[in-house]
Amino acid sequence: MSLGPNRKVVLAARPEGMPQASDFRLEEESPASLEDGQVRVAVEVVSIDAFIRTTLEEVSYHPSVALGGTVMAFCAGRVVESRAEGFAPGDEVHGPMGAQTLAVVPAMLVQKADPSRAPARAHLGVLGATTGLTAYMGVRHVGRVEPGEVFVVSAAAGAVGSLAGQIAKLDGARVIGIAGGPDKTRYLVEELGFEGAIDYKGEDVAARLRELAPDGVDVFFDNVGGELLDVVLDQIREGSRIVICGAISQYHGDMSQGVRGPALYLRLAERHARMEGFAVTHFADRYGEAEEALAGWRSSGEIRLDEHVEKGLENFGETLRMLFTGGHTGKLLLEI
Ligand SMILES: NC(=O)c1ccc[n+]([C@@H]2O[C@H](COP(=O)([O-])OP(=O)(O)OC[C@H]3O[C@@H](n4cnc5c(N)ncnc54)[C@H](OP(=O)(O)O)[C@@H]3O)[C@@H](O)[C@H]2O)c1
Repeated sequence: MSLGPNRKVVLAARPEGMPQASDFRLEEESPASLEDGQVRVAVEVVSIDAFIRTTLEEVSYHPSVALGGTVMAFCAGRVVESRAEGFAPGDEVHGPMGAQTLAVVPAMLVQKADPSRAPARAHLGVLGATTGLTAYMGVRHVGRVEPGEVFVVSAAAGAVGSLAGQIAKLDGARVIGIAGGPDKTRYLVEELGFEGAIDYKGEDVAARLRELAPDGVDVFFDNVGGELLDVVLDQIREGSRIVICGAISQYHGDMSQGVRGPALYLRLAERHARMEGFAVTHFADRYGEAEEALAGWRSSGEIRLDEHVEKGLENFGETLRMLFTGGHTGKLLLEI
């Protein structure tokens, strides 16, 4: 079987601030031979996730990528060669395979999709750990939203945010999304049925939030952090829950040295509120429950996740930048 070379995205330089296309380089290599227990996967689609940015730092919560190393990413594709029991050419798989065309990985690192339930690609989105499962855990097990409560979510038109808002709606909450630009706020209200949406780039968020939620916020699902977190903290109700899912406004730099924290954290004491952070992996024992619920809502059409698809491994750097400039709506993917 002639496979051709593996093309991979390697880290050429550690980004200073916002990643640049020049921080990455495409390299080609002859396909490695397979060892026992390994599979070779033809990667079809790469999930563009915020955690990738943090792996580019020398010190990171997620394992750091070495200079010259292949950039880590979750991917979906098809097995083309297998020396692992239970895996055969043609199987659809997903897992952390890295930004490359022909990944050689231990089979235990990837999972087979069941195409009769959902394609492998759905495991990067609605059924993905970094997307659907994160939204589910944050809403159900951290925020624990109740019917009739006011649920506010930031980065609301993105992958995690759009799903978190929809799950909270299914749980009976009044959902308000915060996102950048009028197209996104229109999308949230008209397409996803959120009760309200605030354009943080063009509107006074504090004033609009007061209008939309005059009695205050019960649950804030925060993906952004920084200044926006303070604006919402100032309007929380007694007994509210602040879910720290992420802080995408704070990822450009050495996070081990600290990020901008909330100046108004005393609102928590004043209003007997709770702020709780989580990584989806803390809820690994609940993945089955979440997948079952998400797969059901996906097939019944009760939730949707739009995709923004870019193409070509050579566009990896530009596509990663889009996650921070907000050029996409829904799940950002790179087809290769
Ligand atoms: N806790 C966990 O285990 C876990 C797992 C996965 C992801 N996450 C977190 O979930 C969040 C969303 O991730 P995602 O993959 O779904 O990405 P996403 O929401 O699809 O994309 C990120 C969005 O963030 C917004 N944004 C970027 N920079 C911003 C800034 N400085 N201020 C305000 N908004 C900004 C942009 O939308 P606008 O156009 O609206 O600005 C962009 O579309 C991230 O914080 C990520 O770290 C957490």
